[in-house]
Amino acid sequence: MDKLAIIGGRPLYGIVPISGAKNSALKLMAASLLTDEELVLENVPRLADVDMLLRLLNQHGAQSSFEDATLRLHAKDIISTVAPYDLVRKMRASFNVLGPLLAREGKAKVSLPGGCAIGARPVDLHLKALTAMGAKIDLDEGYVIAEAPDGLQGADIAFPFVSVGATEHVMLAAVLADGETKISNAACEPEIVDLADCLNAMGAKISGAGTASINIVGVDRLAGVTHRVLPDRIETGAYAMAVGAAGGELTLANADIDLLGAALPVLEKAGLSFEKTNEGVRVKTTRDRSLAVDIETKPYPGIATDLQAMFTAMMATADGVSHVKETIFENRFMHAPELGRMGAKISVDGQTATVTGVARLKGAPVMATDLRASMSLIIAALGAEGQTMVNRVYHLDRGFERLEEKLAECGALIERVSE
Ligand code: EPZ
Repeated sequence: MDKLAIIGGRPLYGIVPISGAKNSALKLMAASLLTDEELVLENVPRLADVDMLLRLLNQHGAQSSFEDATLRLHAKDIISTVAPYDLVRKMRASFNVLGPLLAREGKAKVSLPGGCAIGARPVDLHLKALTAMGAKIDLDEGYVIAEAPDGLQGADIAFPFVSVGATEHVMLAAVLADGETKISNAACEPEIVDLADCLNAMGAKISGAGTASINIVGVDRLAGVTHRVLPDRIETGAYAMAVGAAGGELTLANADIDLLGAALPVLEKAGLSFEKTNEGVRVKTTRDRSLAVDIETKPYPGIATDLQAMFTAMMATADGVSHVKETIFENRFMHAPELGRMGAKISVDGQTATVTGVARLKGAPVMATDLRASMSLIIAALGAEGQTMVNRVYHLDRGFERLEEKLAECGALIERVSE
């Protein structure tokens, strides 16, 4: 299993190209199943999660080529409506093939994604919504067996709480349904808008994406288009916080800071300054040490839960005491004890971590537990004294494209060690 060895204490200077958003690319890829024409996605990050979904789409019958961040997907014929356990269990986003398969073929058998390290992550909202749209759904031996032989019907879907995946899933199913679907309490994440933009370019009739009320009028067929994936706001935040921990100044090429939502003023308050440039965004520290700031994760435009672990790492060496409240997932503080191994003072009580900033962290062997938690360890390591060895880096390969290359190009001492 690969490890990353990082020697901290070197400020970061240079240009980091920000990749396309993983969490948008994955849903856009699922949209390729909705048309028998070719969907061309540009700015797709080369990540383990993308490769995994690609294998699943190939297995459903999509032909593909992936070169220079351009992914071509052509699902002319669907040859299988079964999404097997092995390809769905490793990545929850695979579950989103259910809606498109059901909409196009009238049936699908898709493995349940199961729980994961950050929480139970059920799919009840997805299934209730598809049922409301006329699908007959049974659960058997870990599989969702769904049928809609006469097609899906538009429905009024009122979510009890905000779910990014369920909102996207309903959109992916409703575009080919008969009649109108109204989603209330919809997620407003930029990735939802990106998906709506692509689907509308394909011929769908979606309005209201980016607000809590989305309206979808079903159409008979969708066409192939070329669509550019929006920049990854979580990767943008990650490199900004790396500067917060290690110091220096980075240009985040292709980044769009407006996508950071409420995280932007918080990062500014903590001591980072951002400047829009022709290339993207320039970020630098305005203080020797970050200032402690309290945060609470919320659905967009609130502070993203995916940035929480990295923010906790940045706060570990901030001046003062910070309270970090996680409201989206029930088990998303696994980085706390690992950061503790590096000297961070973090106590977790229920949904809240209290972080008492220390002047400096010390390198240590640590273990990555999930994708974003892994990045928090990298951020901590970049600012720490001495060497940190991050174990289980396969988590990082799922969501951060060319991580060590991008960091090394900006002066970080980081090396992948294969065993
Ligand atoms: C997406 O997950 C992202 N994943 C997550 O990023 C992100 O943390 C999350 O949205 C929140 O922003 C992808 O886009 C692939 P949710 P998703 O449905 O859609 C509960 C990363 O690191 N819930 O908005 O699965 C759920 O358990 C990943 O890139 C139900 O109870 O998140 C959670 O507590 C991690 N029933 C809350 O809702 C359901 O049917 C929000 O989850 C669906 C969700």
